[in-house]
Amino acid sequence: MRLVQKAHEFITTVLKESASAIDMTCGNGMDSLFLARIVGERGNVYAFDIQEEAISRTKELLQENNCASQANLFKACHSQIELYLPQEIKGHVNSITMNLGYLPKGNHDISTRSKTTIPAMLTAYDWMQSGGVMTVIAYRGHKGGKEEAEEVRKLINEKKWKLSLDQGRKKADSPLLYMISKL
Ligand SMILES: C[S@@+](CC[C@H](N)C(=O)[O-])C[C@H]1O[C@@H](n2cnc3c(N)ncnc32)[C@H](O)[C@@H]1O
Repeated sequence: MRLVQKAHEFITTVLKESASAIDMTCGNGMDSLFLARIVGERGNVYAFDIQEEAISRTKELLQENNCASQANLFKACHSQIELYLPQEIKGHVNSITMNLGYLPKGNHDISTRSKTTIPAMLTAYDWMQSGGVMTVIAYRGHKGGKEEAEEVRKLINEKKWKLSLDQGRKKADSPLLYMISKL
């Protein structure tokens, strides 16, 4: 099973209809759609990406699947989510996806970087409810990917967050899935 599916399976154990969820890197919109289908029209998905192309691909996918009404899309860096999220959901966010790297079929030079990934994770964790989950998929095959994955691991260890790690194919450059639960 692919790591994206494993991440979704993990989220399925906690995410419910009407809940609030965040997609920190919406890209082609697959994670946003997954979250939007579960939370339904009475829930909310807040989706972020720094590229206009990603925002429009996500918007289109959500519209095609009748899930646009529960989605709030922001062309912004995920380290800035506090500026966009409604204050009343602070401490009530149920699930967060963060699929790192670059936009598939997009510009591979525009990629997530630990300089913003780490502050973004810290803020996102703060906004999560107790019992909430955050999944982070870190790709290690591209420039800077290994270092970013290492920084993510360091942060989780330092903060002593509850972690379940899936090492995929266990090769030095294969992607990693971090599944974080807030106690
Ligand atoms: C692997 S893709 C995400 C895939 C997506 N979740 C999906 O389901 O299709 C990574 C995305 O992260 C975005 N990204 C890079 N740096 C970012 C940042 N600082 N804040 C938000 N998004 C960023 C890229 O533009 C790219 O679209």
